[in-house]
Amino acid sequence: MVKNIAIFASGSGSNAVNIYNYFKNFSDMAVVLFVTNNENAYVVKRVENLDIPLFVFTKNGLENFSELQIVLEKSKIDFVVLAGFLLKIPEKMVELYPDKIINIHPALLPKYGGKGMYGGRVHKAVLENKESESGITIHFVNNNYDEGKIIFQSKCAVEKEDTPESLANKIHALEKEYFPKIIASIIQEK
Ligand code: GRF
Repeated sequence: MVKNIAIFASGSGSNAVNIYNYFKNFSDMAVVLFVTNNENAYVVKRVENLDIPLFVFTKNGLENFSELQIVLEKSKIDFVVLAGFLLKIPEKMVELYPDKIINIHPALLPKYGGKGMYGGRVHKAVLENKESESGITIHFVNNNYDEGKIIFQSKCAVEKEDTPESLANKIHALEKEYFPKIIASIIQEK
């Protein structure tokens, strides 16, 4: 049976497309749905010419969950990947997909996580605290922001000359390299 993946994204969507491309070579797993809460996000442009649907909903739509639940069920989604998705996943959804919702965070959790810690804010905080390293954390989603079980981390050095942008570039490189592979290995194990 093919395992179906939905990717949720709120921003630029570079990870979303990278993951989609990676899974094109698989016969037993596939990205079958993109989901966003932001119709103006660049992810919408990136995925509009790909051959799978994009479902757009509002913050209320996520909180009520019933419509989204129907969409996920219709697409027979087995795993959900959050690739730069900024809203909190409702408890009902966490319950329905135990250890099947995977998030990536652009820092070494448990540091620099939690509500409001996303994007450039994370890198700025890492630099302000003069950390010597940062990296990525891939983890399961539970009911608290960035607190689910950690699956994988990879580090990069933080140099004196780094800016939030240069650090973001290093982190993006790690994300591109590892996120699809780790998703595949999680799905294989289940
Ligand atoms: C990534 O850095 C990810 O770790 C974070 O949001 C960013 C999304 O980047 N959660 P993109 O939209 O995939 O380019």
